[in-house]
Amino acid sequence: MALPPPVTRTIALKCLRRHIHRHGGMRVVVPKITRLFSSSDCAQASKDRDAESSRYSDRQSSPLREFNASPSFQYTRSPNPSWKLGQSHTLQHENQKEWKSDEMQGWKTWQMDETPSRDIYRLLTSAVVPRPIAFVSTLSANGVPNLAPFSYFSMVAHNPPLISVSFSLSPKRPKDTRENILATKEFTVSIINEAFVEAANATSVEAPADIDEWQLSGLTMAKSTDVNPPWVRESAVGLECELFHTYDICPPSSDEITHTLVLGLIKRAHVRSSVMKDDGTVDPLKLRAVSRLGGNTYARIGEGFEVPRPSWKVMRHEIEAQDH
Ligand SMILES: Cc1cc2nc3c(=O)[nH]c(=O)nc-3n(C[C@H](O)[C@H](O)[C@H](O)COP(=O)(O)O)c2cc1C
Repeated sequence: MALPPPVTRTIALKCLRRHIHRHGGMRVVVPKITRLFSSSDCAQASKDRDAESSRYSDRQSSPLREFNASPSFQYTRSPNPSWKLGQSHTLQHENQKEWKSDEMQGWKTWQMDETPSRDIYRLLTSAVVPRPIAFVSTLSANGVPNLAPFSYFSMVAHNPPLISVSFSLSPKRPKDTRENILATKEFTVSIINEAFVEAANATSVEAPADIDEWQLSGLTMAKSTDVNPPWVRESAVGLECELFHTYDICPPSSDEITHTLVLGLIKRAHVRSSVMKDDGTVDPLKLRAVSRLGGNTYARIGEGFEVPRPSWKVMRHEIEAQDH
């Protein structure tokens, strides 16, 4: 595929501005629904989103420290290295005592089928953390490039190498990434790292399908080998994927598709040499991947510890020794 020639950020944004002036209102196609969004629809959508973001923010108005740009990852001992098989919760550190006493405050329980989906979204996206983020690049059937982040993302298998991405659908507008994957059967996933998280976040804007988020992001296309969509040159990891399977998800006793789960077969992986360790794994210190927590919060990986995988042979001996 011929990639667009490199353009400077200013020229790219100028092109976008011209495009927006020329095409005015935004034509958005949703399965079975076609409508024109007026600028007042968009203003309302943006107000709703701002209100949602501020409701969400955990950090209130306290002043923030500067981002600590020095490499942050370090290994420590595990929290409770002297723990023995079958031993009940030990209260070694202050924070473990607090963790135990917090339990006394009791539990809140949600009956999911009686909870509005907005509340479920807020609850689960802040509870199921940290989530890795897939930076997904696709091309539309007409060749328009598209780039957006998705944190309903995981690795699901290594033989064959499969990843999953899930798209939340709204009757108001389609997810261009989903449309493009269904149309072209291919995409790439790049891993987002600290160096370009703001640029990656900018591509989550709900722009019309004919807007190229690459130009907003200032990021660079790296040519793929096995698929047509490019991956992100600034990323330390780029995965070229073919569509393996899709699964439309409807709530029980409804035929409204609310999500589409996509499985992608990784055909080729690109990893920066500088992040590779000698043992064939990626060094988390160098990768500096960011993850998604609830609301607008991203997190970096600060510390790690190793807890060896248990062996039944060793464990059996330990159990027998405890019995005597
Ligand atoms: C960090 C982050 C993670 C996101 N994760 C998801 C996700 O997992 N699924 C989803 O449908 N939208 C997710 N979004 C929202 C999409 O990025 C957003 O709707 C975007 O406009 C989709 O772009 P597209 O229409 O070009 O595909 C996420 C946004 C951000 C900022």
